[in-house]
Amino acid sequence: MAIGEAALCNNAESTVSSITRRSYQVVIAATRDMGLGMDMKLPWDLPFEYEFFQGVTTRTSDPKKRNATIMGRKSWDSTPLEFRPFPGRLNIVLTKSTCLDIAADESVLVCSSMESALELLATAPYSLSTETVFVIGGGELLRNYMNAPGCDAIHLTEIEISVPCDAFAPRVDTCLYHPWYSSFPNVENAIRYSFNTYVRRKLDPIFGSGEKKSVAESDFKQYSFLPKMVFERHEEFGYLNLVQKIISSGDMNDNNTLSTFGCQMRFNLRKTFPLLTTKKVFWLGVVEETLQLIRGSTILKEKGTNHIWDSDDAKEYLDSFGVNATEEDGNQPLHWTRSDASKEFNQLPDVINKIKNNPHNQKIMLSTYNPLDYKLSVSPCETVAQFYVANGELSCQIYQNSTEASLWIPFSIAAYSLLTRIIAHVCDLVAGDFIHVIGQARVNKAHVMAIQKQLQISPTPFPILKINPEKKKIDNFEASDLELLEM
Ligand SMILES: NC(=O)c1ccc[n+]([C@@H]2O[C@H](COP(=O)([O-])OP(=O)(O)OC[C@H]3O[C@@H](n4cnc5c(N)ncnc54)[C@H](OP(=O)(O)O)[C@@H]3O)[C@@H](O)[C@H]2O)c1
Repeated sequence: MAIGEAALCNNAESTVSSITRRSYQVVIAATRDMGLGMDMKLPWDLPFEYEFFQGVTTRTSDPKKRNATIMGRKSWDSTPLEFRPFPGRLNIVLTKSTCLDIAADESVLVCSSMESALELLATAPYSLSTETVFVIGGGELLRNYMNAPGCDAIHLTEIEISVPCDAFAPRVDTCLYHPWYSSFPNVENAIRYSFNTYVRRKLDPIFGSGEKKSVAESDFKQYSFLPKMVFERHEEFGYLNLVQKIISSGDMNDNNTLSTFGCQMRFNLRKTFPLLTTKKVFWLGVVEETLQLIRGSTILKEKGTNHIWDSDDAKEYLDSFGVNATEEDGNQPLHWTRSDASKEFNQLPDVINKIKNNPHNQKIMLSTYNPLDYKLSVSPCETVAQFYVANGELSCQIYQNSTEASLWIPFSIAAYSLLTRIIAHVCDLVAGDFIHVIGQARVNKAHVMAIQKQLQISPTPFPILKINPEKKKIDNFEASDLELLEM
């Protein structure tokens, strides 16, 4: 029985003067209204979701350690007997009662306050044997501790239902937390939900354990405290794995180029914007080029308004592609207006019209494909973009026949994600997935060392894109209507 341990917790609270406490991460599932439970039960049956909870709270990177789960007494009571105590974890139950009847088990402790539990976990032997501390509910506990300074991360399964609940969690405070990762939606027993992880913003002076961290410390591997199975779900790893594959096992096309054929990456546009974080992506160029394409311009360099191709960065992009970047008025081969001798057809208004009025149309497409273009030195490599509407969300898939992986793939991911966000915005939809299919992905051998260095860097959270809500016409956007909020 763990009441003796409860006494120990109380002692620790009253005698320790320089207090050391463990930081923790919250793991919960909640409805749209942040409902957690009803009549001491979960109002859903989602076995895969429960498996995720088990995985996150049980797995450790050090096999000699285990994780701790802290829960309110009512959550303990409401856990079916066959599931409690949670195996492979230290279970800590919080209660103010001194006569809680919990069967003796070395894996269960009772503490009389959150502070005493976190202090106990910061003291030997628990400090040495406990890898990560998870607070798992319920509502009363979360009201005080979910957005509190000691909370490093919140793993929230967002269940897209509204059902009556009598226990609630607070909303994630987005001034304090930034999305790390958001899964593509799952559907189980006709309920749609997604796994989301929010990490505490680095600008907040208090981090995790209550210590101030230096910028250098917070920049490098700052997020490796996350459970490995969550850390590795950052979508940037899709891109990093692709370039790793090209440089380690790509085909040697000529003396200068390595390549691989047939690649797919998928990015979730619902919460964050996939501007890669392990390398500098030319955001201003992304914005200007996308707006230029939306305007239907076919001029590579619009004098006076568009200076994308003027800067050194741009020159580097174009030089690596063998294009003369100083050329003033070259024809931009990538555009969405097709014409033959008799008529011209601008595809973008047609795409928007179909999305708004015939969203299940199977050919909502922008094509740059024109066989004659392949005679040009720079033919369009983004051959086709197809749009898809479901559940009030707009997704986009592009096919890029051939592209350079170090500079252009990050640029194209951002440009077509931006186009999807803008089109979704003007059609009053939420942006869903961006799927990037590439025929031949290439790396110039001169870039291999830079890529190897890039692969040593850990991704940081993607930024959030805010679009000016006043703008509702596709050809009305300016760069200032698109604000990128970084972590
Ligand atoms: N969806 C999810 O992820 C999730 C997770 C967990 C639970 N739940 C659901 O949530 C419901 C239970 O939540 P709830 O809000 O009613 O209760 P709860 O937070 O689980 O437990 C409240 C009790 O915990 C103790 N307690 C809370 N804060 C404490 C503190 N700071 N110090 C000491 N003791 C503290 C008190 O116990 P005493 O009264 O004994 O003093 C209090 O009455 C259930 O329906 C459960 O199924 C859902």
